[in-house]
Amino acid sequence: MSKIFISDLQGKEEIESIFLVKIFNTMEGKDGKKYFNIILSDSTGDLESRLWQYSSELEKEITKNCFVKVRGKLNFYQGRKQFIIAAIEKLSDSDVNMDDFVMKSFSDPEEMYQQLLRVVDGMRDVYIRDLLKLILTDTEISRRLKTWQAGKTIHHAYRSGLLEHILSCTNLALYLSNHYRVNENYVIAGCILHDLCKIYELTDGINVEYTEEGKLVGHLVKGLEIVDRYSYKIKNFPHYTKMHIKHILLSHHGEYEYGSPKVPQTSEAFLVHLIDLMDSKMGSLEMIKKLDSTTGHWSGFVKHLDRIIYKSDLPFYPEYVEEEIVKSNVTQERKEPKPKQQIQEPRTSLGKMLGGIKINE
Ligand SMILES: [Fe+2]
Ligand SMILES: [Fe+2]
Repeated sequence: MSKIFISDLQGKEEIESIFLVKIFNTMEGKDGKKYFNIILSDSTGDLESRLWQYSSELEKEITKNCFVKVRGKLNFYQGRKQFIIAAIEKLSDSDVNMDDFVMKSFSDPEEMYQQLLRVVDGMRDVYIRDLLKLILTDTEISRRLKTWQAGKTIHHAYRSGLLEHILSCTNLALYLSNHYRVNENYVIAGCILHDLCKIYELTDGINVEYTEEGKLVGHLVKGLEIVDRYSYKIKNFPHYTKMHIKHILLSHHGEYEYGSPKVPQTSEAFLVHLIDLMDSKMGSLEMIKKLDSTTGHWSGFVKHLDRIIYKSDLPFYPEYVEEEIVKSNVTQERKEPKPKQQIQEPRTSLGKMLGGIKINE
């Protein structure tokens, strides 16, 4: 059976395909009847689904993270795609092509990793450069860095998303350190190291979870441990350099209530915090635009941003038009003709979105 991907589902249609069960809940309707509320997923997104026929056997058999073959009909409910399942069958992991179910970065991880090493090679502070090089070329760290996600769900939550976020922040560091005339060596170090220890905080695989070390120690404190461990390998590593790098790592969440034990107190630490905030928010929007299943211009309510998001491209006119076609009703579907030779950059990481600004890639 050929795989039907969630992002390709358009109108009301009959579907038969294989999906991963992301969430499986037994619910009770107003009439007291039980049913299943299921979120199916694949590498392209999530699909809200219902199975109205309750059975206690299915309740035991189908679990979160298992693969299922389903047949049913795609509907729309309150502007959102909803799949009504008519038949469901559990599959074993060996029956599926895992690549169909893992969301990945658009960029090649090896290429991103080499770009990061090139930035480090060009650094002028020899101690910070050596420290970053030692850390990044550690076999286990580099292996994990190339595949890990940056978070469970909110931003860069896909394979190699952590590396994409780190590289994007590092490219911003190169540009913005120069713009604000701060020491770029520390800003680059902060951008590379601030979230690196998510490789210990999160698990790998299809359904990412927090590790025990992640829950009990976390990536901020773990980052300090890594700085200590590798700086001791470098002869005469300056104490104050290490202290300032540690301050950047400890303060990168910006506020006490977001888990930082210190708030940023140097220009370099402030900039790392702001770059991180900017890249994570833009990464979040990118994920919402890609995954939100609400039809029309607007996303459903996004809890972590406390708002709904406008998902469509904004109007763009490379040439004058004869008369204004779209009037004031912003909710109506735009009917302007596609301008000739409209430049459509593929949506990509923030670092790449700065394509017009030549940064040291
Ligand atoms: Fe962080
Ligand atoms: Fe981050």
